[in-house]
Amino acid sequence: MEKSEKSGLEQWRSRAEELLGTMTLAEKIGQTVQYGRCEERERELIAEGKVGSLLNVHGADKVNELQRIAVERSRLGIPLLIGDDVIHGFRTIFPIPLAEAASWDLDAMEKNACIAAIEAAAEGIRWTFAPMADLTREPRWGRIAESTGEDVYLSSLAAAAKVRGFQSLNAEGFPTVAACVKHFAGYGWVEGGRDYDTTDMSERTLRETVLPPYLGGIQAGALTVMSAFSELNGVPATGSSYLLRDILREEWGFTGMVVSDWESIEELIYHGYAEDRRDSARRGLLAGVDMDMHSGVYLEHLESLVEESPELMKLLDEAVLRILMVKFQLGLFERPYVDAGEPPAAGIPAEHAEQARDSARKSIVLLQNDSGILPLDDERHRKIALIGPLADDRHNSMGCWAWKGRDEDVVTVWDAFQSEIGPHAEVCYEPGSGINEAIPGGIDRAVELAKQCDVAVVTVGESEAMTGEHYNVASITLPACQERLIRELKEKTATPVIVVLMNGRPLATEWVHRHADAVVEAWHLGTMTGSALADVLTGRHNPSGRLPVTIPRSTGQIPIYYNRKNTGRPHLYEDYIDCDDSPLYPFGYGLSYTTFHYDDLQLERSAIHRDESVSVSVRVSNAGPRAGEETVQLYIRDLVGSTTRPVKELKGFRKVFLQPGESRTVSFELTPAELGLLDEQFRFKVEPGKFHIWIGPHSEEGLQGELTVT
Ligand code: NOJ
Repeated sequence: MEKSEKSGLEQWRSRAEELLGTMTLAEKIGQTVQYGRCEERERELIAEGKVGSLLNVHGADKVNELQRIAVERSRLGIPLLIGDDVIHGFRTIFPIPLAEAASWDLDAMEKNACIAAIEAAAEGIRWTFAPMADLTREPRWGRIAESTGEDVYLSSLAAAAKVRGFQSLNAEGFPTVAACVKHFAGYGWVEGGRDYDTTDMSERTLRETVLPPYLGGIQAGALTVMSAFSELNGVPATGSSYLLRDILREEWGFTGMVVSDWESIEELIYHGYAEDRRDSARRGLLAGVDMDMHSGVYLEHLESLVEESPELMKLLDEAVLRILMVKFQLGLFERPYVDAGEPPAAGIPAEHAEQARDSARKSIVLLQNDSGILPLDDERHRKIALIGPLADDRHNSMGCWAWKGRDEDVVTVWDAFQSEIGPHAEVCYEPGSGINEAIPGGIDRAVELAKQCDVAVVTVGESEAMTGEHYNVASITLPACQERLIRELKEKTATPVIVVLMNGRPLATEWVHRHADAVVEAWHLGTMTGSALADVLTGRHNPSGRLPVTIPRSTGQIPIYYNRKNTGRPHLYEDYIDCDDSPLYPFGYGLSYTTFHYDDLQLERSAIHRDESVSVSVRVSNAGPRAGEETVQLYIRDLVGSTTRPVKELKGFRKVFLQPGESRTVSFELTPAELGLLDEQFRFKVEPGKFHIWIGPHSEEGLQGELTVT
């Protein structure tokens, strides 16, 4: 930390301490109280200094009005902290986090978060409950859409990038909004993909795989953390001093504020971990939860609890100090109100739309183009049939958690086809099916249309309400009516079929992948969905997205992930007798309209001491006809260790843009941080022995080298 930052922190701390010294017990408790609605009773509580934070407050005028009650009517005039779920955009909706992760573009993630923060702050929201750093291997879980996928390295970097973006400094030099790394910890491990369900995992999985992405966000400076709804290994996360004190504060040195998830302190009762509301409040405070989201148990019970057990006063003071610190760090005391001169923008500013489009096209993954049908071209494709329920669906294109996004801002695929492809080719649209229900006569009309066209682009997938919080599925397939649409188009016409998947989770759609002429994974891309897809389908943008999750062939393969263990019996038997062992598409996979060639893998040295680093490089060439971007991926395997290691672990990636015929040497530095493991006692060590190193285009391909560590 820079000296000047330190003195800033100390200055805020001393101001917070000074203020704390003037507060009554009731006022202190007030700071720990957050409400998710604001009616008459809550307004009175604000005036009495008994509410510290609100969420679900919409609009600058409303924020100013409530802020005025806090600042002008409460005794100490402490401003409210207004939070909300600004997950992948505010008014401008960016790709869902899983899609953003598919871009492997950390700058784009940071920029998107920065724009979201600017738009939110213009309406008085100074705290976002993002990024979600819950690593998951569970596509049935609806919240996989909010995650950055299955990999610990990519997810850690993504969490950090988003924290930097949200907390980028505003004109006054304060973080635009405070970030909140959530849901601490292990919420992505829910059994059976059922949201809120039990999570149970080994200490090794927790420490090697699940915790690092939260740490990534915290090390990037996140001011706040949210505790999870779920229990972890027998203790609800919101009641876990092991998670919230021992790991978060003692081991990681986190000094920011912890907020519960929505009523998750009260829910300690339903977990069977607290007797009643009073006991839940006591356990929440003991565990280290500073702010109570919406349940009201701190407001109701902390006073009598502190009176009964005066030693709790110290914990309360620490919690309040941390909350006040965040308010000082955000400059809320200097500037509690949103300027009247900053009304919400009438539409989306052009530069925000341009960033949304760029980020969206970078998130699209070309999965299959066996027939070479893509990109569309004016010569071959004079008449194009656009088919499918999502082609002209403004709302669902935005994906889950797009509550401030407006349907009228969205450019659908049909909009973009008409305006951008329409001038060169004839384009016609027929939905063919609903998302979950057939449309009477829809498939017949779609088939007739496709017969008259040179190509059919079929947009299928999920509604936003099939993903996100508590929208889980038992089967990760395409809804039957949509799969039938594709089958009939393939069986009843000779027209090539390009399938565009628009979804919030990987879909196990093997038949579609085998029979379609091309498959494009477009996820839920947000406001600029149609423009981004038109860019990719026409080849104006050469697809460069890579999968941040493994796509299974069947729901029954879950969990399936690339960095599995070898086991004692690898490949002795098939994993299943009714399904191929391999995934439909591996982690890191994605095609381009050009071909990248890898050669000349070089290890600076073939043996190093365990304290040393080594540089590894490869030459990547664009051997095809178009300029394009490759995501060069570095994986390692520690062959023998005192604890077993995954068969591959991602340890680096670089994006390189190459003109046709151009070659570039891409280098990585492997340091002890990448080569080490946690031993049986969870001590970090680099152990002597051999490592395999791969550099390649995805987790199943690459040039292999060997490194000896002494
Ligand atoms: C519950 C969700 O789990 C959490 O992610 C969100 O931030 C809160 N509700 C507030 O809306």
